[in-house]
Amino acid sequence: MFKRSWFWDRLAKRYAGMPIPDQASYEAKLEKTRTFLRPDSRVLEFGCGTASTAILHAPHVALIHAIDYSPRMLEIARAKATAAGVSNLSFAQATLAELDSPPDSWDVILGMSILHLLPDRLQTLARVHELLKPGGLFISSTICIGDAAWQMRVLAPLLRALPLLPSIASLSLGQLKGELVRAGFKIEECWRPGANKAALIVARKRVR
Ligand SMILES: C[S@@+](CC[C@H](N)C(=O)[O-])C[C@H]1O[C@@H](n2cnc3c(N)ncnc32)[C@H](O)[C@@H]1O
Repeated sequence: MFKRSWFWDRLAKRYAGMPIPDQASYEAKLEKTRTFLRPDSRVLEFGCGTASTAILHAPHVALIHAIDYSPRMLEIARAKATAAGVSNLSFAQATLAELDSPPDSWDVILGMSILHLLPDRLQTLARVHELLKPGGLFISSTICIGDAAWQMRVLAPLLRALPLLPSIASLSLGQLKGELVRAGFKIEECWRPGANKAALIVARKRVR
């Protein structure tokens, strides 16, 4: 039977060994994110992959619950968390829609390198909004190829036509910010290290 996570399951081992493409920007994003974390923060990360980011943030918060739909990614994530000696990091195999969690229960939700991959991005933003406490923060890093050079914009639909690759949304940064605002968030910070780089957005859940 077709397994929805097959692409990431197959990639998991290689993904874990891949160097971070832009280490300086990654570290700057970790730093910026950390200024919004508190020792008592309850953090949820979706699409956590092999948990590289969760492991680095875990010492700065009360707990992180990290979810991903790929069992192979989670296998590696669990082994890395154990090797790092991180005890406040838990894992579950789930999408955000499937997650069994009451509304208004998280201080911070992280979605790193994931929003551009989701076919149901608007539902995801609504779900993030539902799960966050009032005033809680959604921190994401997203590739916005809608702003990329025309070659990339032309290539994207062609790549989408290949059933072997996950689809990447033709999203612009302005569009994503608009979607966040319409989903009930206030943009607190937005930083894109370069024209074709993923944008870090810190968005606060508005109290309606
Ligand atoms: C590009 S990787 C990013 C991993 C990690 N957040 C990082 O920054 O290294 C995308 C991850 O999202 C997961 N993923 C993709 N679609 C998902 C979905 N609908 N629900 C949960 N996880 C998903 C994949 O299994 C993969 O681990």
